[in-house]
Amino acid sequence: MSPAEAKTQIQALTAELKQHNYNYYVLAMPTIADFDFDKKLEQLNKLEKEFPEFADPDSPTQRVGGDVTKEFVTVKHRWPMLSLGNTYNAQELVEFDQRIRKAIGDSFEYVCELKFDGLSMSLTYEAGKLVRAVTRGDGTQGDEVTTNVRTIHSIPKKLDKGEFPELFEIRGEVFMHLKAFERLNKERTDNGEVAYANPRNFASGTMKLQDSAEVARRPLDCILYGLYTEKTLFKTHWESLEAVKSWGFHVDNHSALCSDINGVLEFINKWDKDRFGLSYDIDGIVIKINNYSQQQELGFTSKSPRWAISYKFKAERVETELVQVTYQVGRTGAVTPVANLKPVLLAGTTVKRATLHNADEITERLKLHEHDTVFVEKGGEIIPKIISVNLDKRKPDAKAIAYITHCPACNTALLRTEGEAAWYCPNDEGCPPQIVGKMQHFTGRKAMDIDGLGDETIETLFKQGFIKRISDLYNLHEHSVELKKLGRFGEKSINNMLEGIEKSKQMPFEKVLFGLGIRYIGETVAKKLAFHFKTIDKLMAASLEELVAAEEIGERIAQSIIEYFGNETHQQEIEKLKVQGLQFVVVENEVKLASEKLTGQSFIISGVFEKFSRDELKDIIEQNGGKILSSISAKLSYVVAGDNMGPAKLEKAQKLNIPIISDQELIDKVS
Ligand code: IVH
Repeated sequence: MSPAEAKTQIQALTAELKQHNYNYYVLAMPTIADFDFDKKLEQLNKLEKEFPEFADPDSPTQRVGGDVTKEFVTVKHRWPMLSLGNTYNAQELVEFDQRIRKAIGDSFEYVCELKFDGLSMSLTYEAGKLVRAVTRGDGTQGDEVTTNVRTIHSIPKKLDKGEFPELFEIRGEVFMHLKAFERLNKERTDNGEVAYANPRNFASGTMKLQDSAEVARRPLDCILYGLYTEKTLFKTHWESLEAVKSWGFHVDNHSALCSDINGVLEFINKWDKDRFGLSYDIDGIVIKINNYSQQQELGFTSKSPRWAISYKFKAERVETELVQVTYQVGRTGAVTPVANLKPVLLAGTTVKRATLHNADEITERLKLHEHDTVFVEKGGEIIPKIISVNLDKRKPDAKAIAYITHCPACNTALLRTEGEAAWYCPNDEGCPPQIVGKMQHFTGRKAMDIDGLGDETIETLFKQGFIKRISDLYNLHEHSVELKKLGRFGEKSINNMLEGIEKSKQMPFEKVLFGLGIRYIGETVAKKLAFHFKTIDKLMAASLEELVAAEEIGERIAQSIIEYFGNETHQQEIEKLKVQGLQFVVVENEVKLASEKLTGQSFIISGVFEKFSRDELKDIIEQNGGKILSSISAKLSYVVAGDNMGPAKLEKAQKLNIPIISDQELIDKVS
């Protein structure tokens, strides 16, 4: 390669990798697979070695991490938070093993750990109390996020057992379980917000929130894998893990001690297959020398320890053909593009569709053309994504795919708010999927919870012209004869449905408000608004300043409320609903029990649940007369356990013989 060519390549790679670092660390929205990033970094490193005169002093090869966000206090790490060297195949691991042997001889052990795909966190404890939590940042200094970290249930705020030193740091990975990710991400799209691409981005986006109440709503977990003390307390890493487990930290129990590199390779092969059965994403295996004095002997390079390395799994990737891009319209009018693919087998399932997120993904990042051959990858997420296009297979006359300009359902011109990724259809009163979606949202379990009125029934009733807006539901009883004539519903199901609709008039104001489906008003925000303003009249009359003065309400939400209530059709609809007898005023200090079935019983909720948030389970318990306790004691009646309940809690509950039940068993008790 000529020096001129090298210079151009170095500059291009440097700029590209800096952008990827920014996307990853600052925006928490990476747009490149780790594997591809590492390959490019390696390529740049090689070129820089050959042509050092062209290397940028601030090259991505010289840095551990990225930039630090401005909103948090920056804290310098007492011990730098280094990264790990990566390997991708057995050969590279054997070479690592040979380097170790050359340096310290043949007598050593490896510890193999899962490589959790989240964000690393450093926790400082003084006198057994969590005093500080800091993100990795650029490896030398990070953001102080203690308030947010305190909301993570598996991180002890105070240690109450074990012989821990006066001051120590413990490091681990903060992540979100897949089930929680799917539930919360669906909630986001339902509320018209942009979905996160994967659990890691969701976890890291959550840690960057300024509002710790919102952080608490998003269940995160933290697995600890490294202890840092002034004086060395243990001989080996393994012993230190055992100790921190006994102090009450969540330590992974899949780790293994291996006596040689063959054991390491076996561990890797096992988890390459079994990782899809875990409740969280891992992206590889971390291999560490167990003995601390041998670690010291091996030392560090400027970026990473010589005594540890990571092995990255290849994300399963296949090639297939793009058949067509179709578009879905959600209840808020947000349009989501979907890639329809020629069916192909990937990580054990047949893949027919991939998410495309938004217009930029099609026209900017992938620059998709009709019938392109695409590479599809699947991490832990259920819906796979298109990583890139195989340009070699693109037909010369293929046309670029243009994002639609009009709604696929009602043909209204689409709009995009500045700064937002999604296009949306503004015809909220005339666009069928929006109308149906809004009514399905209103009647859904989290809103008015109307029995006997499922999503399909709503679709049928809309198509047959019975309902166009929410208030029509409350006039349905006038049409029972016509409904029967349709022949689609039996008398019993019609009565059931009408009864359910009548009963829903008793649902509290916050549920009605959430059910209206105002953009950005999720369940929690609806509750906050209802309890702050008390009546719909006050909420409708509130100015922007009054709205943002309420807890957790930012300008974006306030603007959306003002827009919604400023619309005349919405005002008329609310008047109708008022006359029909729905609740538009908060009923305070009156705890209405759904039943007395749990009276005298106490509960602790622990872990992550597929169908419910912890708050929802708490509500169910309290509404049926049960109590929530804050710690496990002999008085406790039940532990309601989801996935990944803390091991310390589990042990304590088992010791005290307290029955451990699932969320379904709880529901069975009250139904
Ligand atoms: S040890 C000096 N152990 O991987 C070594 N890291 O690429 C410190 N990670 O920044 C890291 N699981 O965020 C270690 N079991 C594990 C890990 C792990 C995930 C992450 C961590 C680190 C990155 C390095």
